[in-house]
Parts: sequence; C-alpha cells; structure tokens
Amino acid sequence: MPALSLPLLLSIAVGPSRADGPLVGDGGLRALDPVGPPGLGLSAADCAACHERAAAQWSRSRHAVAGTNPLFWEAWTRLPLGWCVNCHAPLRSGQQATLGGAVRPGALVTPAAPAGAWREGVTCAACHVRDGAVLTADPPSEAAEAAHPTRHEPALGTVAACQGCHDFPFQRHDAPRGELWLSTSPAQATVAEWATSTAAAEGRPCQDCHMQDAGHRFPGAHDPELVRSALRVEVGPGGAFRVTAPGAAHRVPTGDPFRRLLLQTCADRGCGQVVDQLALRRVFARDEQTWVEVADRTVPPQTPSSPARRDLALSVEGATWWRLRYQLSDVRHEALLPPDQAGYTVHDGPLP
Ligand code: HEC
Ligand code: HEC
Ligand code: HEC
Ligand code: HEC
Ligand code: HEC
Repeated sequence: MPALSLPLLLSIAVGPSRADGPLVGDGGLRALDPVGPPGLGLSAADCAACHERAAAQWSRSRHAVAGTNPLFWEAWTRLPLGWCVNCHAPLRSGQQATLGGAVRPGALVTPAAPAGAWREGVTCAACHVRDGAVLTADPPSEAAEAAHPTRHEPALGTVAACQGCHDFPFQRHDAPRGELWLSTSPAQATVAEWATSTAAAEGRPCQDCHMQDAGHRFPGAHDPELVRSALRVEVGPGGAFRVTAPGAAHRVPTGDPFRRLLLQTCADRGCGQVVDQLALRRVFARDEQTWVEVADRTVPPQTPSSPARRDLALSVEGATWWRLRYQLSDVRHEALLPPDQAGYTVHDGPLP
C-alpha cells in the first residue's frame, strides 16, 4: 500500500469543505474574512454586475440592512459589543473600515458611521465566498465554472447555512470584563424550533420558504403580507381568542427575544383606547449567569403531533374592536423609532 502523506490524511479526516458543519458563524464569536476569487471583489456590487436578479432581491432584504437599519442601530449604540457586529456586519474588512481595527466580541466599541462592507450587512460574500472560490448549493454549471472558481458546497442548501447566525445562546454576564462567554440558554432558537416541526420532518429547510425560487429577498417579520398570510385569528364569545399559524415551521414570533405579537381589545375601531392586551412572546428573567426563558407564550410550531395555535382570554368589557399587532423591537426603544418601524397591524375586526 502506498504511504499516504500526512496532509492528505488530515484532509480526509477533517474533510475538504466541512459539508456537515456550520457554514457561517458560531454564535457570532468571530468575524468572517473570506478570500475572494482572484480578480473578483467582495462587494455585492461586484457580484451584481453579472447577477442582477439575486442582487436586486438581496438589496431589498433585511440581510442587506442588517448593520445599518434603525432597529439595530438603536439597540447596538446602547450596547455596542463587537459580538453583535459579527452577525449584523460580519465581514472583517467592513469592521476595520468602520472602526479602524478588528473587533473583539466581548469589547465595547465606539460606534462610527458604517463604512465599506459594513454598509452591506450580511452581504453575498458572507454566504457564498470561501478560500478563493464561490460556493454553490447545487453542482455548479459549466458557465459558472467559466465565470469564477466555484466549489460545490451542499451545506449551503441546508439549515447549516443559517444556523450560525439564527440559533445562538445569550452571553454570560459573569464573564471577565472585555471577554465574551456564551451561556447554554438560547437567545434565538429558530433552527432548534424548526427541528421539531412538520416542515423539518418533511425535509423542508429554511430555504424552502425564505428563498423560494432561489429568491434573495428573505421575507420575514418585516413583510406584513407574509405575516398576514401566515396567521389566523378566531374570535369566540366572551373574549376567547385563538391565534393559529397553520404550517408554522418555528415559533411565531421566532428569532429576536424582543419580538412580540400584541393581541388587544379596544373601545373604538382605531384602538385609540385599549381595553385589554396580551403579548405572545418569550419571557426572560436574569439570573446570576445569564438570561433564561421562564415562559413561552408564542404560537408553537406545527409538529406531527401538535397544532400551531395559542388560546387566549381577554377582557371585552366596554370593547367593540380587536386587533393583532406585530411589534418588532425592544419596548424601551419603541418610542424612539418612527411608528412604521416599530410595528404594524396584522389583523383586526369587530367583536362579535
Ligand atoms: C463576470 C461575471 C460574474 C461575476 C462578477 C460573478 N458571477 Fe457568479 N456566475 C456567473 C455566471 C455566468 C454563472 C453561471 C450562470 C448563472 O448561474 O447565472 C455564475 C454562477 C454563480 C453561482 C451558481 C449558480 C450555478 O450555476 O450553480 C453563484 C452562487 C454565483 N455565481 C455567485 C456569485 C457571487 C457571490 C459573486 C460575487 C462575489 C459572483 N457570482 C460574481 C458570472 C459572474
Ligand atoms: C444569507 C445567505 C446568502 C446571501 C447573503 C446571499 N446568498 Fe445567494 N444563495 C444562498 C443560498 C442558500 C442559495 C441556494 C438556494 C437554494 O438552493 O435554494 C443561493 C443561491 C444563489 C445563486 C444560484 C441561484 C440563482 O439565483 O441562480 C446565485 C447566483 C446567488 N445565490 C448569488 C448571490 C448574490 C449575487 C448575492 C448578493 C447580492 C447573494 N447570493 C447573497 C445564500 C445567500
Ligand atoms: C452572517 C449571519 C447570517 C446568516 C448566515 C444568515 N442570516 Fe438571516 N439574518 C441575519 C441578521 C443579522 C438578520 C436581521 C437583520 C435586521 O433586520 O437587523 C437576519 C434576518 C433574516 C430574515 C428576516 C427576518 C425578519 O424579521 O424580517 C430572514 C427571513 C432570514 N434572515 C433568513 C435566513 C436564512 C434562511 C438563512 C440561511 C440561508 C440566513 N438568514 C442566514 C443574519 C444572518
Ligand atoms: C414552512 C415555511 C417556513 C420554513 C421552513 C421556515 N420559515 Fe421562517 N418564517 C416563515 C413564515 C411564514 C414567517 C412569517 C411569520 C412569522 O413571523 O413567523 C417566518 C418568519 C421568520 C423570521 C422572522 C421572525 C419572526 O418570527 O417573525 C425569521 C428570522 C425566520 N423565519 C427564519 C427562519 C429560519 C432560520 C428557518 C430555518 C431553520 C426558517 N425560518 C424556516 C416560514 C418558514
Ligand atoms: C449570532 C448572531 C447574532 C448576534 C451575536 C446578534 N444578533 Fe441581532 N439578530 C440576529 C438575527 C439572525 C436577527 C433576525 C431575527 C429576527 O428577525 O427575529 C437579529 C435581529 C436583531 C434585531 C431586530 C432587527 C430587526 O430589524 O427587526 C436587533 C435590534 C438586534 N438583532 C440587535 C442585536 C444586538 C444589539 C446584538 C448584540 C448585543 C445582537 N443583535 C447580536 C443575529 C445576531
């Protein structure tokens, strides 16, 4: 048997592309520093020259504004940790252009006007460029290989492409100053929630719904039409409400811990006067180490054995109207945001 060289053995053991591991991120512990193909820049504008459709869709996505939008900026300037930026503006070059140096996840930095790749948030290269090649979810076409070096990366078509940023724990507040320790308490758990769902059992990853036809707009909570079509409200007598999310592949709301659906009964049609309200959300408490979820009032995902629904009882005394609001941000920041950024009405109607 011919002797195998050590580097070859290592590459067999580790695998050439970590096809089964997370593609991106590890809870935001480090920035991404992808090496682009020779002669190809790492800006979305460089890709847009040939990929007009993907680039136009992406530019309308939350990924494109992840490092610059007012909701993020309000929160981040109050707690300007390097950690946040590793997911919201993950390219190291953008962090350097903006802050003049590398960010450490546990360090508080002085916010500055976004420059370079920071302005592109979760840009094409964050998902598609590694080790001098463009990653493709399907085996690349000949045209693709002629256009730029490519590498087939099947994990790009699975939840592994989303997991590092969309499923991560809270930081620990007992870490030494300037350091970041992750806890085991989930801050965002979208992939874990998905894993219990009927969609997962049917082999439908995030891309199935959020990238239909390989679309790059990534619709979510900032798309009222999507949320309207995903949620139903049944109103019974005496203030009995049932909120359902037929086919939900994760909790609703999922993701950011501040997200909440607000169900209200009101004295008037415009809800100028709220009679009663309940929030569908996760509730957290601070312990000596981190934040812990103490109650889950979201709509659970549809699983093979349980429906995606939540029953609630509200006071209807003196009420004529009800409405369901989607509130996007931390309640403490709401007053600081333009009203249309803070949330929107999903459904409303007269009380029976
Ligand atoms: C000079 C033109 C050009 C530039 C610049 C370019 N591409 Fe491509 N790319 C192509 C062509 C041509 C194909 C093959 C046909 C197609 O899929 O549109 C392709 C294919 C791809 C595919 C896979 C599609 C398949 O066939 O499987 C991906 C993913 C991709 N490019 C991403 C990128 C990204 C990300 C960038 C920027 C970093 C980029 N490309 C820059 C021309 C270009
Ligand atoms: C958040 C991660 C992510 C970002 C950001 C992203 N993509 Fe993609 N892209 C994917 C995934 C995942 C697929 C495979 C989708 C599938 O198979 O359903 C894909 C597929 C593609 C394809 C092949 C399908 C097609 O439309 O022909 C091209 C080309 C492409 N991306 C270009 C781009 C360009 C250009 C940008 C930036 C303007 C970009 N992508 C940004 C994750 C991303
Ligand atoms: C590098 C980190 C990163 C990766 C990888 C990533 N995302 Fe995101 N994603 C984010 C951030 C950060 C936001 C929030 C942006 C904002 O609004 O501030 C976001 C927002 C979204 C939204 C919009 C949510 C809303 O409330 O409207 C959807 C949908 C989404 N991502 C889906 C995906 C899917 C599907 C994948 C995998 C194919 C993926 N993301 C990969 C970081 C990432
Ligand atoms: C069966 C379709 C489906 C699948 C699969 C799916 N989602 Fe969603 N997702 C939706 C719908 C519909 C919404 C809007 C309703 C809502 O707010 O949950 C949504 C909302 C979101 C949001 C916005 C936050 C929120 O709660 O409003 C994020 C982030 C998100 N999805 C990420 C993911 C990730 C990551 C995966 C894979 C682990 C995934 N989704 C799988 C359908 C899906
Ligand atoms: C591991 C990746 C990761 C880290 C670290 C992270 N985020 Fe996020 N953040 C996300 C993702 C993914 C979303 C989108 C989830 C959703 O839509 O519910 C998001 C959403 C948000 C939103 C809501 C944005 C919107 O447009 O609706 C705010 C605000 C936010 N993050 C602030 C922060 C701050 C401040 C920090 C640091 C203390 C931070 N994030 C750290 C991944 C991350």
